[in-house]
Amino acid sequence: MKYKTELVIWTKREKAIIQTIKTKLRSPSHGLDHLTNVASHALVLAKKYKASREIVVAAALLHDLGRNNPKLHGKKSSQYSAFLAEPLLKKVGYSDQDIKLILQIISEHDQPFFSSKLLESRILKDADFLDGFGFRGMLRSIYFTSEADQPMTKAVERLNLKMPQRFEGLEFLESKNIAKEQFYLTRLLLSEVDSYKKIYKGKLIVLEGISGTGKETQAKLLAKYLEKCGEKIVIVYHPTLKMKDILKLWRKQKTDDFSEVYLFIADRNEVVQNKILPALMQGKTVISLRNYISSLVYQAKNQSQRDLINYLYSRFEPIPNFVFYFDIQPQAALKRIENRAKKTGEEKGKFEKINLLKQKRIKYVQVLKNFKNVIRIDAEKSIDEIHRNIVDSLLTLWEKKGT
Ligand SMILES: [Fe+2]
Ligand SMILES: [Fe+2]
Repeated sequence: MKYKTELVIWTKREKAIIQTIKTKLRSPSHGLDHLTNVASHALVLAKKYKASREIVVAAALLHDLGRNNPKLHGKKSSQYSAFLAEPLLKKVGYSDQDIKLILQIISEHDQPFFSSKLLESRILKDADFLDGFGFRGMLRSIYFTSEADQPMTKAVERLNLKMPQRFEGLEFLESKNIAKEQFYLTRLLLSEVDSYKKIYKGKLIVLEGISGTGKETQAKLLAKYLEKCGEKIVIVYHPTLKMKDILKLWRKQKTDDFSEVYLFIADRNEVVQNKILPALMQGKTVISLRNYISSLVYQAKNQSQRDLINYLYSRFEPIPNFVFYFDIQPQAALKRIENRAKKTGEEKGKFEKINLLKQKRIKYVQVLKNFKNVIRIDAEKSIDEIHRNIVDSLLTLWEKKGT
């Protein structure tokens, strides 16, 4: 994890403070990384709201020294921090006037329902709260609970009750801006998952692969076959035809690939809620031509974008029981796309170029590693052969439990 504090350029006096306190801190939840993180948040806020940098950063670096005594909390701990900070501030050369101010700010922090008249005090309060959101906030809460010899339920309670109070208690708009993403993400992490909603009678089969691999033909053949066997089948498209039209318009102007992810999500959510889930609940088999695997391959540029796509879809998209991956040499795929274009007059898509088809084929292999029951289909074979392969694999897997 990279800390923002790596970007802070400390003054000579601040460096001296850090050197002195480094070995003296006893509380992991209020250790040096907390103090320097708070200082870096304080620095951002001081710049924005034109407060004294020297004062807020010194106060931030020293505000939790009193946490060395785990029995002290709130006001008492803040006052103890001020008591310990005073000689140190003198030693590194702050003026008496500055020391008075810094000690006042330290004493006033850690009181959620108190709002100081002093700008620098309000900044320290927000900066301190800002280190309590997101992943760091969760870790610190757990550490703190353990330092206080409290049970784990107390940590959950702290996160459930105190984090929203702290978010509400942030005084500056800029603080809300910094905290909001982490805060809402933590709230989502803490929310209960309705696991029963994720268990369905029906099966979801996804057909994936680069363009020109014959997925649609095979979807129809498979549907026919399964219907003959007495299954009820629903075929869905991702994106839908409606979204394909929207995308055409959208792509007329140069847009960021990732913006499209949100269009795909809107489209897919409609399909999942109105078609896929009702069908799965009724025990039908849904054949989906593509799903968000395509977004992982086509729209994501890096791991954090893939993580976000996976997360957003995990909120509503059922996990497929089977994924048929239609694999083909890019040259062969392009030939098919060109033949199709001649026959139907359909324009070539954004990704239907040889170098992109090659790249995407490699991506598919990487992305599919995270899915279960992926069946590679050699899409260069004849339509009948591919159909037989799909049916055979499906029947074999169908027999197995857990699919
Ligand atoms: Fe504190
Ligand atoms: Fe703190």
